[in-house]
Amino acid sequence: MSDEKRRFRNALGWFTTGVVVITTRVEGREPLGITVNSFSSVSLEPPLLLWCLDKGSDTLPVFEQCDYFTVNILHEDHQETSNQLSRRGDHSLAGVDVRAGETDVPYLAEALAHFECKVYARHEAGDHIIMIGEVIGFDHKEDGRPLLYHRGAYHALPK
Ligand SMILES: Cc1cc2nc3c(=O)[nH]c(=O)nc-3n(C[C@H](O)[C@H](O)[C@H](O)COP(=O)(O)O)c2cc1C
Repeated sequence: MSDEKRRFRNALGWFTTGVVVITTRVEGREPLGITVNSFSSVSLEPPLLLWCLDKGSDTLPVFEQCDYFTVNILHEDHQETSNQLSRRGDHSLAGVDVRAGETDVPYLAEALAHFECKVYARHEAGDHIIMIGEVIGFDHKEDGRPLLYHRGAYHALPK
């Protein structure tokens, strides 16, 4: 990575985020999940949200094809799941506690909230694709603590 790219990433690292796992499934393949922090709400009417996928990801063919995905907001105890689903080339949900959703995309049982989405739009943006989803169902826990990501490391809210 060039020095300028690294400097850009380091600057962005000051923006502290939560961590989500995007789950999806296409016909004839096992469901998969990928850890991302480029998640944002977009619109209330209609209910839209977005996240960005690196075009270099080996999950690209699946996300180019899928009709649905689910956004799962991780709990602070979810570091291992976050690491598992950010390992290059291995996005299997094996060993992850999942439940069947309203779509045929599974969601993470322990997620603080999950949003089941129909793909609303895909926009090319440089080396990423902006995936916009229309929320067709969601649920959330009443309490719990989120996993945070700040300057390249996990954190938790102060107790
Ligand atoms: C906290 C965190 C946030 C991440 N955010 C994104 C993201 O927003 N978009 C993305 O494409 N990859 C993101 N990644 C990287 C992917 O999880 C994963 O490491 C990468 O896609 C692995 O390569 P592969 O997809 O080719 O297997 C993030 C990883 C971590 C640990």
